[in-house]
Amino acid sequence: MTERTIAAVLAMALPRLAAADIPDARREARLILALALGVDQAVILGHPERPVPDAVFDRFDKLVTRRAGHEPFSRLLGKREFWSLDFALSADTLDPRPDSETLIEAVLAEYPDRTAPLRIVDYGTGSGCLLLTLLSELPQATGLGIDLSVGAVETARRNAESLGLSGRASFCQGDWSQETQGPADVIVSNPPYIPSEEIARLAPEVAHFEPRLALDGGEDGLDAYRKLIPVAKERLSPLGIVFFEIGAGQTEDVTHLLTESGFRLKSVRRDLAGIERCLVATV
Ligand SMILES: C[S@@+](CC[C@H](N)C(=O)[O-])C[C@H]1O[C@@H](n2cnc3c(N)ncnc32)[C@H](O)[C@@H]1O
Repeated sequence: MTERTIAAVLAMALPRLAAADIPDARREARLILALALGVDQAVILGHPERPVPDAVFDRFDKLVTRRAGHEPFSRLLGKREFWSLDFALSADTLDPRPDSETLIEAVLAEYPDRTAPLRIVDYGTGSGCLLLTLLSELPQATGLGIDLSVGAVETARRNAESLGLSGRASFCQGDWSQETQGPADVIVSNPPYIPSEEIARLAPEVAHFEPRLALDGGEDGLDAYRKLIPVAKERLSPLGIVFFEIGAGQTEDVTHLLTESGFRLKSVRRDLAGIERCLVATV
């Protein structure tokens, strides 16, 4: 068989990705080849003449087929960077979003003393990205991550181990009403908040590859908040603070649910796109 070069392999993949409407297909092809070869993207850019062994080409070809089927690159890679930390993903975890870093900023703004021995509870922990990022920033804090998905809990535990945080993080499978083994100083949650009917209209990368349990907020997107907010009220310590991620346009409705349960809205934080993304509330 004739030896294929990096340039030739990229030229074969490009039309397949472009035909599938993958944005920035050229960059994606380079990223996928770098993954298949196990090298940095700089090697792909700097050495188009290098040969691609047949076994690597086969791996690349399969990855291109998956990406052309709109599987996100992070899922091919099996991990996602969040707050500069690496989080392994599984089929049961949401792919963490940069928008959710707004919650981290909000918590850190409320607790400028990084040595505070806070007890944090993260409802709907998924990959564990919120809880584990907070524990990495607050070295005296401990935390519990809860998720209905057994697979998500397993992935979050693995992430805690690989980040060296398993001594301060525990995880359990349960729903919004799960006991938290004592009051929490900080409650964070990025619950599912997409109205059920809208899910099919989302990009295929989201609609087909994110776990439905991580997206589906019921008819109006607010089901999880309705259940979680009264529970959070019971589980929060007297001076505690809750931090909820919300979807675009949900500020008013979720604020209403919070005040109905006896919370006082403290602040609303916007994400990098200027969208109101995090509600901060106290009792
Ligand atoms: C939007 S994802 C957030 C995941 C992660 N915290 C993040 O920010 O990337 C929502 C999470 O809530 C979990 N979940 C859905 N329904 C739940 C329920 N009734 N009780 C507990 N967790 C639930 C899902 O499995 C999912 O991991």
